Amino acid sequence: MTPHAVPIDASRSGKPGETQEEVRINRYLSMCGITSRRKAEDLVTEGRVAINGVRISSLATTLVPGRDRVFVDGQEVALVDALIYLALNKPKDTITTMSDERGRTTVMDHVHSRKRVFPIGRLDRNTTGVLLLTNDGEFAHRLMHPRYGIPKAYRVTCSEVVTREHLQALAEGIQLDEGRTAPAELLSIPGGKGREVGITIHEGWNRQVRRMFEALGYTVDKLDRVAYGPVTTEGLPRGTTRALTPQEIRTLRALAGLEE
Ligand code: URA
Repeated sequence: MTPHAVPIDASRSGKPGETQEEVRINRYLSMCGITSRRKAEDLVTEGRVAINGVRISSLATTLVPGRDRVFVDGQEVALVDALIYLALNKPKDTITTMSDERGRTTVMDHVHSRKRVFPIGRLDRNTTGVLLLTNDGEFAHRLMHPRYGIPKAYRVTCSEVVTREHLQALAEGIQLDEGRTAPAELLSIPGGKGREVGITIHEGWNRQVRRMFEALGYTVDKLDRVAYGPVTTEGLPRGTTRALTPQEIRTLRALAGLEE
């Protein structure tokens, strides 16, 4: 039996939404988006966490979400609304924005979520492929942060054959206005007549892939993001969304330094 030695404010019990299911304090803090489970343990052992007005020190302490009140450094923390993680296979001629005052089609026209979600980063109007959407601010912020260099794989169709030397140059890094691009993984796609290239980059600069190819004199005719971290467009028709799997969410969180 897990110890549960926390005084409970009886007047708060039985609230709608109360689960009655006990969770450990470190898990609860990570569910609130405060920090990882591992780092939440440090908060507890450092004496920074209180439940229902009582400071706790045992990592085995549990609570009932919706009934017990949890404070970190004196600030109450709460569960955010259910977190949502979606992948859209973005079609062409669609703008990555929440709304467009000129009435153009936006990615939100393809997302049918009862809760508000927002895109993680952006794809150009005519770039197709994987676009993640969520209502988890910390997750989105981490995935976009340059420190984590989340791999993003694209299929590029160029107007001309891409030479072996240029594949090498793209892999080593191209000087753009923001600086030099990090080493990228390149491959010439079999059957693509030398004009189709796979590239995996680790930044997310504006129009980055197009500009990398343009810097070498190519015109990009088509750009499709085939993968964002572990999430691919496989089995996801253009213009449709699906929920990320728990495994995909875990992998993305790990890539973004949110899980041990
Ligand atoms: N690079 C681009 O050039 N465009 C995109 O939409 C994404 C990456």
